[in-house]
Amino acid sequence: MRTVAVIGAGQMGTGIAQTVAQNGMQVLLADVDLERAEAGKANIDKALGKLVGRGKLEIADAEALLGRITAVADYQPMADAELIIEAATEREEIKRSIFDAAGKVLGNDAIMASNTSSIPITRMANYSPDPKRFIGLHFFNPVPVMGLIEVIPGLATAQETTDRITAFAEGLGKQVVLSQDEPGFVVNRILLPMINEAIFVLGQSTANIEDIDKGCRLGLNHPMGPLELADFVGLDTCFEIIKVLYDTTGDSKYRPAPLLVKYVEAGWLGRKTGRGFYDYSGDAPVPTR
Ligand code: CAA
Repeated sequence: MRTVAVIGAGQMGTGIAQTVAQNGMQVLLADVDLERAEAGKANIDKALGKLVGRGKLEIADAEALLGRITAVADYQPMADAELIIEAATEREEIKRSIFDAAGKVLGNDAIMASNTSSIPITRMANYSPDPKRFIGLHFFNPVPVMGLIEVIPGLATAQETTDRITAFAEGLGKQVVLSQDEPGFVVNRILLPMINEAIFVLGQSTANIEDIDKGCRLGLNHPMGPLELADFVGLDTCFEIIKVLYDTTGDSKYRPAPLLVKYVEAGWLGRKTGRGFYDYSGDAPVPTR
């Protein structure tokens, strides 16, 4: 592929844009307005600056990578993209309006993919002009670092689409896990009950934040404890995923922990808002309980 459009310039969208551009492709990065798309590009510049500072990337390569990313305000330029990746907020009505708008410019042979963590691909494919060319392409955060991409064909996705997207994902240097279109796919179906359970453990005062995370870091060899990871992913995103698992299966094992609901209602969404289970206002995160 030569040109890939990424819609959504948040944490995931910028990580995807960086990774795609790093592999030599042109990227069109869009958000609700040009200012937000430019802000996303500035965040990529900052991440590249850190890599240059640590001697992991040459300045010239960082500049060339950034030069391949164009912030755009509307969807018209995406008519030239072979692939459009939606990486917007995990809310179906937002994604639907994106597929409606992007669908109007989607090239005849181009693929539309969603980075959704949990919304059914088969259902969203119906919001696109051609469900045969619609697929789930689920990246992990931080995208430039994590080695996995889940590929999720919907009921109507053509085998050719799955093959092309698998080749694209492998071309980014990632390994692919193929998942059926079931709630949470493979990884989040396993991860989110763990995070949710950690929040129950905290809510029942079995242990404090620091010890729950320490327990999983040292006892399970996880790079981050589940509460740190929840803050990293975003508590709103965690809530949306566990809620989809609960609503679609009706299985009470997926009921959202009451404390998770409270934190989301308080607007304490983790790193992105400066407070979640940890307070991020100082130099180092401080547990809040
Ligand atoms: N671009 C390129 N490289 C980057 C980068 C970026 N934007 N950000 C970090 N890196 C590199 C660093 O250069 C560093 O490389 P070396 O190891 O070669 O030095 C490496 O990544 C680690 O970075 P740091 O040293 O800054 O930080 P760390 O060692 O504390 O690791 C972490 C940070 C990689 C995030 C680690 O804590 C980790 O793996 N955490 C778990 C992440 C995880 O589980 N993600 C999945 C979340 S679930 C999800 O995403 C799915 C969903 O739908 C919810």
